[in-house]
Amino acid sequence: PWRSLTDRFGRTITYVRLSVTDRCDLRCRYCMAERMEFLPRQDLLTLEELAELADALIARGVRRIRLTGGEPLVRRGIVGLVEAIGQHIGNGLDELTMTTNATQLATVARDLHRYGIRRLNISLDSLDHERFRAITRRGDLDQVLAGIAAAQDAGLAVKINMVALKALNEDEIGTMVGWCGERGFDLSLIETMPLGAVEEDRTNHYLPLDLVKRRLAREYVLIPSLHRTGGPARYYDVAETSRRIGFITPLTDNFCAGCNRIRISATGTIFGCLGRDQRIELRDAMRVGGRDAIDAALDAVMTAKPLRHEFDIARSQPAVERHMNVTGG
Ligand code: GTP
Ligand code: 5AD
Ligand code: SF4
Repeated sequence: PWRSLTDRFGRTITYVRLSVTDRCDLRCRYCMAERMEFLPRQDLLTLEELAELADALIARGVRRIRLTGGEPLVRRGIVGLVEAIGQHIGNGLDELTMTTNATQLATVARDLHRYGIRRLNISLDSLDHERFRAITRRGDLDQVLAGIAAAQDAGLAVKINMVALKALNEDEIGTMVGWCGERGFDLSLIETMPLGAVEEDRTNHYLPLDLVKRRLAREYVLIPSLHRTGGPARYYDVAETSRRIGFITPLTDNFCAGCNRIRISATGTIFGCLGRDQRIELRDAMRVGGRDAIDAALDAVMTAKPLRHEFDIARSQPAVERHMNVTGG
């Protein structure tokens, strides 16, 4: 019998963020420490297992899957996984998407489109070469811009993700709105979240987005929009560019009451909430028990899914030890 994924607070899960690797070629300073220990490769779910998991999720009513990392495009064989999951689009699955840093995008953008991806969220925190390097610690802005251009050429809709950072990129936010407008991209601004220890105290760069919104309103006309992707962003239409700007505000305006999602790490650990440690280990169980074990693990997550995260930027200690790259946000 078909059972939807509904938690004890009545929230139905229709969206899954599936991480295919925790590795990344960049080291964004709010996301990772310079020296990171990654999951041992032999612990990863295989591509076949990831596809099997996607089948099981779709059978339980999941309608959108977002592939994440680390950086999903550093996982070998990723295009084959997109092809496999893409088979479900229009037949249970409404949308397959990806969040990427775009460094490797130039070579695969066409394939992603061919197998059914229609939009990408791309992280881009600065349009200045030196700053981009300073924030990502090893990124080359030109390579990323080439990846973004390839996505556009391939017919993929692009949304830019920009983490708003005091003193690091706050003076560029208005510029980014214009830059995205010229290219037909939507933009999401994100408050930095305290996940995992990094070299610096995140409170030093924390920028509340209500402040950013007030500043932007001096430069642009922002019209509240009813547009929703099912994600946490609250959108405005920018009158001057006819594009949307989203505000993702886990710190200043928590959106957990409407949460529709769970996350699965590349080693098959299911997290009920980005900002909590609560987890269910799935990999070994599914290797023995197959689909029944997956269903049982999903049911366990529904019982355990917390009501909300406990981010608090006033505390300099991270809310959880795990870094963002384990679940890709
Ligand atoms: P769409 O709305 O489908 O475009 O995607 P998205 O904005 O949810 O996904 P994306 O991967 O671009 O994530 C943007 C930011 O939102 C990242 O910093 C994520 O960590 C954050 N985010 C996504 N979902 C949640 C959530 O449930 N809780 C919190 N606190 N942050 C989230
Ligand atoms: N806080 C907020 N956003 C983060 N991201 C990575 N780490 C953090 C953090 N600590 C963003 C990336 C990417 C998205 C998946 O999450 O910039 O766009
Ligand atoms: Fe990599 Fe994205 Fe983390 Fe930057 S934010 S280090 S691109 S996973």
